[in-house]
Amino acid sequence: MFPTGFVWGAATSAYQIEGGLSADGRGTSIWDSFCRQEGRIVGGDHAEIAIDHYNRYRDDVKLMADLGLTAYRFSVSWPRIQPEGLGAYNAKGLDFYKRLVDELLSYGIDPWLTLYHWDLPQALEDAGGWPARDTSKRFADFAATVHAELSDRVRNWSTVNEPWCSAFLGYASGEHAPGRREPAAALRAAHHLNLAHGLAVQAMRAQNADSQIGGCVNLYPVTPATASEADQDAARRIDGLQNRFFLDALLKGAYPEDVLADLSHISDMSFIQDGDLAAIGAPLDMLLVNYYSRFTVSGAPGGAVSAAAAPTDSGSPWIGSEHVGFVNAGRPVTAMGWEVDDSGLYETLRRLADEYPRVPLYISENGAAYDDVFGEDGTVHDPDRVAYIEAHLRTCHAAIESGVPLQGYFAWSLMDNFEWAWGYGKRFGLVYVDYETQARTLKSSALWYADTIRHGGLLGRAQ
Ligand code: FCB
Repeated sequence: MFPTGFVWGAATSAYQIEGGLSADGRGTSIWDSFCRQEGRIVGGDHAEIAIDHYNRYRDDVKLMADLGLTAYRFSVSWPRIQPEGLGAYNAKGLDFYKRLVDELLSYGIDPWLTLYHWDLPQALEDAGGWPARDTSKRFADFAATVHAELSDRVRNWSTVNEPWCSAFLGYASGEHAPGRREPAAALRAAHHLNLAHGLAVQAMRAQNADSQIGGCVNLYPVTPATASEADQDAARRIDGLQNRFFLDALLKGAYPEDVLADLSHISDMSFIQDGDLAAIGAPLDMLLVNYYSRFTVSGAPGGAVSAAAAPTDSGSPWIGSEHVGFVNAGRPVTAMGWEVDDSGLYETLRRLADEYPRVPLYISENGAAYDDVFGEDGTVHDPDRVAYIEAHLRTCHAAIESGVPLQGYFAWSLMDNFEWAWGYGKRFGLVYVDYETQARTLKSSALWYADTIRHGGLLGRAQ
């Protein structure tokens, strides 16, 4: 059984589900432009309609209520609310989120709002994007406005979803929008995403003391493939860029020295200004953690590269450590090629509790893609996803028992959706979506999750 008050949620993001890209005065985002470029998205997929949540949000909220979710994590689309990323706001865009939030509240579902899940207004990219310092300021203004309009009914706020992905997949490997491959610019982007977080927290705190505000990071434990010095150095480097660069900044107000040294041939980081790290490291009410898998890495030349690589022609996001190989450690994998390892979640949570200032933690994303089949009897049977979520929830429980301040769990994702560069081919939903008809069907994992929530814990199964 989980503690009373444990948050049982599911998550989505605006770009992956809404569609309606030109509805009601929405501006253009970097993902709109990216999807139009040949070879960027598997199968040439795009999110013009996505799963039509913009029009179907009432039915989708009803589904959440049927599942018994106590919370729903969603993101707002910046170009829907502020089409150019600066200047005029679009009342119709804001109204959509007000309606969504009111609908959630009418069923007693707690709205958890993420301010940025990767859909930067194209106009801001044209002005330099995240490598430009001004984008952080623009984001703080945007955050302040959304917060002023919605904090009367939304208590839980997070700033930037997975800054690692925005910075290093967006500006180093080019797997994500805007698809640039500029290592030095990627570092500027990483810092400015952190700064955007810090400035937004400041702005929101000044407006409403009741808000619970956090940052959101994607963490992976990183294991050296062997005990060799080269592999251990590889693990230190990848852990540094993936985890510590963001955790140390947000929770300790400093960048790790060893990581700065790894990157010194790319940038002297002179764009970091006095006061930036104090703003970035200001105390948070909570930390949101997205967890999917573990990395096993090798620093030996020719170290095997795992199947979990990008689907499209892209470079390495691991700037300064391009020699590191990602090794398949032989665990079962999901349809993404990501190794299933719930012990990595335990390790991640313990590390946060042991090595960082204590802050309430939430798993804001966890889940798996599998090749779901819509059965002839109209059901979608996904035992692998049930097993994945069950194992990770057990781990959450063990972490809580061991004293980790973990207070909630959000499954990724509520519904199948547009999985970025992978398009619609990878299904993460608890709810199956027929992309032709937009019909929603609860998979067995959704029914299982609903039972778990109703019970307040895992129904004891023989181990
Ligand atoms: C995370 C993203 C989310 C989704 C999952 C599978 O990195 O935050 O949007 O794509 O991965």
